[in-house]
Amino acid sequence: MPYEMILTETQGRVGLIRLNRPQALNALCDQLMTELGQALRDYDADPAIAAIVVTGSEKAFAAGADIKEMKDRTFPAVYLNDFIGERWETVLEIRKPVIAAVAGFALGGGCELAMMCDLIIAADTAKFGQPEINLGIIPGAGGSQRLTRAIGKSKAMEMILTGRMMDAAEAERSNLVCRVVPAADLIAEAVKIGEKIASLSAPSVAMAKEAVNAAFESTLTEGVRTERRLFLSLFATEDQKEGMAAFAEKRKPAFRNR
Ligand code: CAA
Repeated sequence: MPYEMILTETQGRVGLIRLNRPQALNALCDQLMTELGQALRDYDADPAIAAIVVTGSEKAFAAGADIKEMKDRTFPAVYLNDFIGERWETVLEIRKPVIAAVAGFALGGGCELAMMCDLIIAADTAKFGQPEINLGIIPGAGGSQRLTRAIGKSKAMEMILTGRMMDAAEAERSNLVCRVVPAADLIAEAVKIGEKIASLSAPSVAMAKEAVNAAFESTLTEGVRTERRLFLSLFATEDQKEGMAAFAEKRKPAFRNR
């Protein structure tokens, strides 16, 4: 489908999705979210793609849900249409690793979208925040939950109650992002992570993602049990035999994703 609000390109085995609504700082309107969901699903289904990078512009990853689009919506309309429902959460259904590469503003739904990705790499220009309180609302796409789990209660409470933004250095210190890089290197560094993932065994990558996600969605005991089951099941793959044989033989493994 031809996209109007995102750009897509592939770099090797990495699918790159760029939010592209510069006049609105990539505000996440319905059309943009629908296009993003479609592009994510397409890359997930494409065997040539091993990892996905979602990014925005230099000025904004995304400045949140589209305030102008939602300002006159009524409760029955948002409730019945499941605003912030399936359309916003497609990224959670993607089996391949999804990397958020954030430069500039990641606010409200933009911060929430980044946090729904598997990891966030930030440019030194990045600014994260949940400023919904300034609009008389609260985060609605998981921000109060994912930010709190990522950075802890006190900081999350301060940010969500006051709308204070956090710069890239603080985001790294607070474990919201895995790494901060110069803005000019952001895409290259994000793609490099994707390429590294692409060089590994796809079943182990998918199970590693599932295991880490279990840490967010279950108790410690259940999470450890999930990890154990996934770990043991990898002994059924040819890639486990290849990976370990290659180590013992002091050569590079040739993974075949089976
Ligand atoms: N929705 C709609 N339009 C937006 C927008 C948003 N979230 N954020 C920015 N824009 C638009 C502005 O209205 C402006 O458009 P016009 O030129 O037509 O006036 C354009 O983008 C550029 O923005 P600014 O002129 O405001 O740029 P700035 O550099 O002065 O300020 C900013 C940048 C601090 C990010 C400011 O734009 C801002 O505060 N934006 C809103 C951030 C926000 O409140 N996000 C939360 C939204 S609610 C939400 O996301 C709910 C949820 O949890 C799902």
